[in-house]
Amino acid sequence: MNKKISISTLNKMKQNGEKFTVLTAYDTSFAKLFDEQGVHMLLVGDSLGMVLQGGDDTLAVTIDEMAYHTRCVKAGVNSTFILADMPFMSYATPEQACDNAAKLMRAGAQMVKLEGGAWLAETITMLSQRSVPVCAHLGLTPQSVHVFGGYKVQGREDDSAQQMIEDAKNLVAAGAQMVLLECVPASLAKAITEAVDVPVVGIGAGVDTDAQVLVMHDILGISAGHIPKFSKNYLAQTGDIRQAVASFVEEVKNKTFPAQEHTF
Ligand code: KIV
Repeated sequence: MNKKISISTLNKMKQNGEKFTVLTAYDTSFAKLFDEQGVHMLLVGDSLGMVLQGGDDTLAVTIDEMAYHTRCVKAGVNSTFILADMPFMSYATPEQACDNAAKLMRAGAQMVKLEGGAWLAETITMLSQRSVPVCAHLGLTPQSVHVFGGYKVQGREDDSAQQMIEDAKNLVAAGAQMVLLECVPASLAKAITEAVDVPVVGIGAGVDTDAQVLVMHDILGISAGHIPKFSKNYLAQTGDIRQAVASFVEEVKNKTFPAQEHTF
């Protein structure tokens, strides 16, 4: 039986320059398989609104649905760390965030993820002081898709890049124990990874973040519609689910994924 992975394990990996791997998971069977293949962290993502529920975005997902899927994932896990998404409008106020984060922690999450910048500082402090570890999601935050006017790379201009660096530092100072960067230029993700002393997970953020996350349906090539530039179909190259996951883990460890073609 492998040792249980905690935030201390992931912090040590960052300090030692060892990359770690993250996949989304929503049920017991895949959680077990990913755990057995050595994936370090599972993200119970609100992407389930699209890949499981068939929605156009993540906005319809509720906290009770997130708690249900977190419980399912927890049931399959032996050593992997579990991060769960707080869905749209479940953390609009710090008090609401506390009530809803408690549902995910009770369901088995070891950390919750919130999307947003400076406005989240008070909420993050309140959660962390109440023993809820927080991951701050910056860059392309899918719950804001209608504000952005689509799923677009963020932080391309100097002022928005500088703002994102400041947001990351401020949210870590407020108590965030992890940062996730989605769809940002690789140079910006590198600067943020070096600027904060907590693990930084990237998706479409280049090779220099401390960890890489992909949506499980993307690595298995079963996502419907648009395939993002940053994803890779590992099942196509291996023909076996366990082998596909093992290849993802290996390529992240030896820094061959993401390659230039997956990078902004
Ligand atoms: O919900 C999700 O799957 C996510 C990843 C895309 C990072 O937040």
